[in-house]
Amino acid sequence: MNAPPVATPTFTRLPRHIAIVMDGNGRWAQQRGRRRSVGHRVGARSIREITEECARLGVERLTLYAFSAENWKRPKPEIRFLMNLLARYLVKERGTILDNNVQLAAIGRIGELPGLVQRRLAELIDVSSRNDGLTLCLALNYGGRTEIVDAARRAMQLAKDDALEPDALDERTFADLLYAGPGVADPDLLIRTGGDCRVSNFLLWEISYAEIYVTDTQWPDFRAPALHAAIREFERRDRRFGGLND
Ligand code: FPP
Repeated sequence: MNAPPVATPTFTRLPRHIAIVMDGNGRWAQQRGRRRSVGHRVGARSIREITEECARLGVERLTLYAFSAENWKRPKPEIRFLMNLLARYLVKERGTILDNNVQLAAIGRIGELPGLVQRRLAELIDVSSRNDGLTLCLALNYGGRTEIVDAARRAMQLAKDDALEPDALDERTFADLLYAGPGVADPDLLIRTGGDCRVSNFLLWEISYAEIYVTDTQWPDFRAPALHAAIREFERRDRRFGGLND
């Protein structure tokens, strides 16, 4: 049976961009005597619920760490399971994405993902591109250091092509070369589920001034009320960006 719908509260200060390290799927399953894959499957349901809730609240962008560049070190069957789940998700969640006016995006070395995942991703990015609500950005085969190296390579190539003066490279122009492209606001709130207090190579450049919120709740249990609690905590934070507030 599905849980009863949760009323959507109003917030005085809503993060424009929320980024989430979705951790704890494996432990969630193991604690219930189930295979880790069960945790990933239930975790995919949390993705749906959190996407819908962010769309309803008016959050502009939600970036989810779905598969890190380091996750290839996991056992082959788990990788295969995650890639199949992702390929299925991109078909199954088409309705959720389109009905909620969500625009899909992806960051990471997408060209190294299995062909089927790449095709389904490109298709859903394309069909959702005219939506103008929440942008759901999946970080896939993503590493923060890799992203910075890839941006540096692009900057060097532009300089070689006489399209960029080295002196003209500043934080703004460099940020435009990151995977998400120009004009994307940095995350205001970084949530990590599963209780570990680390960044795990996620959005290293972009989270410079993000408020960090770590919860012991594991990703399969992270649903709308848990998101509301994270945003309530965000509302209480005093953001100074290196300056002083009165
Ligand atoms: C890890 O929990 C989480 C991931 C490997 C990434 C998130 C993946 C999903 C939510 C699966 C579905 C994704 C899509 C896009 C359909 P973990 O295995 O590291 O948990 P543990 O720390 O308890 O071992």
